[in-house]
Amino acid sequence: MNNLLQVIKERRTIRKYQDKPISDELLNTILEAGRWAQSWANTQCWHIIVVKDGKVKEELQKTVPSGNPSYQAIVDAPILLCLCAKKNVSGFYKGNACTPFGDWLLFDMGVFAQNIALSAHSLGLGTVIVGLLDQKMAQQILKLDDDKELVALMPLGFPADIPSAPPRKEIKDFVQYI
Ligand SMILES: Cc1cc2nc3c(=O)[nH]c(=O)nc-3n(C[C@H](O)[C@H](O)[C@H](O)COP(=O)(O)O)c2cc1C
Repeated sequence: MNNLLQVIKERRTIRKYQDKPISDELLNTILEAGRWAQSWANTQCWHIIVVKDGKVKEELQKTVPSGNPSYQAIVDAPILLCLCAKKNVSGFYKGNACTPFGDWLLFDMGVFAQNIALSAHSLGLGTVIVGLLDQKMAQQILKLDDDKELVALMPLGFPADIPSAPPRKEIKDFVQYI
């Protein structure tokens, strides 16, 4: 299998982490992968907050419902990436939304997050995108300005457990040819 396809297929959502720090060099390599993500008109709306402080992680964990399977990962992972985005940039031209979708920040942040997830996996690390949380509360904890939005949290660390792959739909079940 081609190497990239192998990384794409073998990447799993990781929710359990080893108690092992991540070097700044490794973190920077992963952020570099995010830096090269494609975005609307190359607007690069991302703003990433790297949380290493255990107390801040504990505060942010309170924004995640305890039933979220990644609840513990928020405090266990050595690094917690907070994926924030500048509003009214992606999908806008001269201050006006170009499409009926309005702000494309979620789309661009998804592309960014996938670059992070794939590069992390290729380097032996694991991640999970945590979208189910109280974004407003997390925004306050992070003292984020109103021109930005917190989209998701992304714990990052060395995997302690690699789950088996959840099933995928067959191509024929989601592709239409006309
Ligand atoms: C936008 C988005 C939000 C997600 N939010 C959560 C979450 O809040 N908690 C969680 O445990 N997993 C979350 N996930 C992970 C998915 O559950 C996971 O990607 C999916 O089950 C497929 O598993 P895989 O990533 O191992 O292929 C999220 C994934 C995406 C793309």
